[in-house]
Order: sequence, then structure tokens, then C-alpha cells
Amino acid sequence: MNVLLLGSGGREHAMAWKLSESSMLRDLHIAPGNGGMQELGIMADLDAMDFPAVERYVRRHKIDLLVVGAEAPLVAGIADYFEASEKTNIAVVGPKKKGAMLEGSKEFAKAFMQRHNIPTARYASFGSDQLSEAIAALDKFKAPYVIKADGLAGGKGVIITESKQEAVKTLEAMLKGGAFNEAGKRVVIEEFLAGQEVSMFVVTDGKSYHILPSAKDYKRIGEGDTGLNTGGMGAISPVPYLSEEFQQKALNQIIIPTIKGLTKDEIPYHGFVFFGLMKVGSDPYVIEYNCRMGDPETEVVLPRIKSDLLHLFENLCSGLLSEYDLEIDERAATTVVMASSGYPGSYDTNFEIKGAEADAKWDGVVFHCGTKMSRRKLYTNGGRVLAVTGRGATVEDALKRSYEKVEKITFQGAYCRKDIGADILDLA
Ligand code: AMP
Ligand code: GLY
Repeated sequence: MNVLLLGSGGREHAMAWKLSESSMLRDLHIAPGNGGMQELGIMADLDAMDFPAVERYVRRHKIDLLVVGAEAPLVAGIADYFEASEKTNIAVVGPKKKGAMLEGSKEFAKAFMQRHNIPTARYASFGSDQLSEAIAALDKFKAPYVIKADGLAGGKGVIITESKQEAVKTLEAMLKGGAFNEAGKRVVIEEFLAGQEVSMFVVTDGKSYHILPSAKDYKRIGEGDTGLNTGGMGAISPVPYLSEEFQQKALNQIIIPTIKGLTKDEIPYHGFVFFGLMKVGSDPYVIEYNCRMGDPETEVVLPRIKSDLLHLFENLCSGLLSEYDLEIDERAATTVVMASSGYPGSYDTNFEIKGAEADAKWDGVVFHCGTKMSRRKLYTNGGRVLAVTGRGATVEDALKRSYEKVEKITFQGAYCRKDIGADILDLA
């Protein structure tokens, strides 16, 4: 099969790495890719949001399968575009617009959960002509206040504040001030849930599903989970506090009702569902849905899958998902993100990276997030630069491997959290 993978981050590097070991793969095309993916496939200079350009590429290169890494093209309807296209006949891994609304609109996702009795925080939603109603509604919630821009905001559209005054300011900024542009023109206010976060992932065709390894992401820039939110500074899999009982609850109360809900609402779905969960006491609640894999979670989830990812995608698209045999590696994987100084604020790029090459004696993979290759040298090209994934018998062993390699990698201003997984080890 010829595959076109759309994306340029660590998630797509991990997908490209996993797809490239498939015996079913002929050519792997990656657009636009990054400095770490060049040895894995043919790099294409394509904008994933320019669907006609992607279509021309697909025809020229006889692509059979399109894998969409990030949410924006899915929410904008790339899967609908290819289904309607008379010029091509390719399968797409990723839901159509309607299914992608689970991520594209927080209000849609909340109403979906309410309709299908899926546990989530109590909420209220408001449009830009309802500022005074939104402010009045704060009284129905206790601090800390959780305010979310309805639309896609690159992981930055959630404000959590103890101060009612700041909550009011946030509502004003979103509904009236243009904060988060279109995404902030509607808002969701919701109850704060205190607990431990965990990410679960399924691949589903709307009927069958496979549950992938779960992961925990470390979202804040600073150690001890402090400071600004980022795309994710590290991840671990498995998550030791996920008991068998909790996973059963998540399956019965959340995963199965979500898939059944999609069918009931006549929303066809072929792709990943990422469940951002909060474990409150011993019960799971949905914090958010995403219509794609997580980043950096993919960098620990895919290294724990033994079976063929392309085979999984083929079965997903041909109605044979239930016949796929998903094999999970019992060992742990952890990833530590190395970021540019200043991230998640402004930062400089173009610093040479040394020490990131593969090492046969080291059990791990360095996934590239924001890098570029120029004359065989590697340079920084983003906020998150590398995701250094280590493997081991336990999370503790895997973390040792990740940090061992991090020590050997240098670039100007390199920053990483030194405490990825430390909370888990403290529990042990
Ligand atoms: P989201 O973009 O919806 O994943 O939210 C970003 C982060 O905000 C989540 O990863 C949580 O840490 C936090 N968060 C979102 N909603 C809630 C909530 N209802 N209660 C507590 N924390 C939340
Ligand atoms: N790591 C969180 C996300 O991918 O949304």
C-alpha cells in the first residue's frame, strides 16, 4: 500500500516509525514531516488544509490510504472531501466533520455526553450575545472556575481560575474581546473536577473497537505541574494507578456508550477517539474528547504495540476491525520532551542539535517534534523539539532510559522537565 501521512510533530514521527516496519507498506509519503522523518519516507511539501493540493498529490502518487495526524484538517472536513471526491478512491484514517465535532466543539461534546449519559462535569454554555447570562451563571458554580472556548484553540482555550473577577474577565475576553477568535465566540463553563488525569485511546469504525495502551501526559511547563499549559512535556505508559476496576468502569460507562452514541446519532466514525479522563475517587469522568491521537502520548503508546499498525488501519477502513489481533507489549514506555528555551511563549529556532542519533545499545527512540535537517545537520525548528522515548520492564526503568539519552542530547537553550513520572514513582 502507498500511504500519505499528514503532520509534522512527534506524533506523526511515531506513526511513520511504526508504519515503516509494516510488510504491507510500499511507499510512505509524509507531508510536511520534519527532520527526523526523512529516513522513513518520501517528504512532500503539502499543506494539510489545502484539500485540492492533497488530492492532486494522492492521484499523482497513487496513494491508497490517507492518515491524518492532527485535528484541524479533520474538523475542517478532509475525510468528507475525499469521500465526495470523484477523482480519487482512497481510505481515510480519521473521522468526518460531524464526528470530529467531538473535539471541534466543546458544547457539542458536552451535549453528546449528556444525551448518552456519559459521566462528565456539569456545565452551561453561552454565545456571544449572552455575556450577562454567562456572568450570572458563575454563581451556579464554585471556584475554581473552569471556562472553555468552544472551538479549537490548540490546547490553550481552557482557563481555570480561583478568582471570580478573573472568570468574569475571561468570559468578557472570549465572548466580546475576540480572545481565541471564532473558537471563543461560544464558551462552556463547567464544574471543576479534582482527581488524576489519564488518557485512553480507541480505534473504532463505529461498531468494533480496539483499546490501545493508556497514557498519562504532563501538560505544564514547570516541575511539580506548575506554570503554563503546553502541548505536553512528557508521557508515560502504562499508568500504574489505572486499576482493572477503573478500566472496566471506563469501558462500560464511557467507551461503549460513546461508540453506541455515535451510532444512535448517525455519526459514522473511522479513526481514533482520545478520551481525556479524570479519575475522581475511583470513578472516570470525561474531561474532553479528541478525534485523533495525543502528542506526546503517541510516542509512548505506539512503542507498546507489537502488531502491525498499517494492518490495523487497513482493517479499520475495510470493515474488518474486529478481525484484527492487537498485540500489546507489556513493557513500559516513557517520553521526555526537550523544548526550546521560552516555550510555550516565544522562542528562537535554528540551533544545531547534537547527540540525537539512534544508538544500537540504547533501548529507545528519539522522536522529532520540531526539527529540520539541512546539509545533514539537525536544527531546532519548533517549541517542542524532541520526544525522547525510553523502554523498560517498568515505568521506572523506562524513565531511566529516557533521561540517559536526554543527557547526551544538546542544543542551545534545551529545556526539559526532570520530574516526568516522579509522581507515579512516589506512589509506588
Ligand atoms: P482540555 O483542553 O479540555 O483538555 O483542558 C485542558 C486541561 O484543563 C485538562 O487537561 C485538565 O487538566 C484541565 N481541565 C479541563 N477541564 C477540567 C475540569 N472540569 N476540571 C478540572 N480540570 C479540568
Ligand atoms: N497531549 C494532549 C493532546 O494531544 O491533546
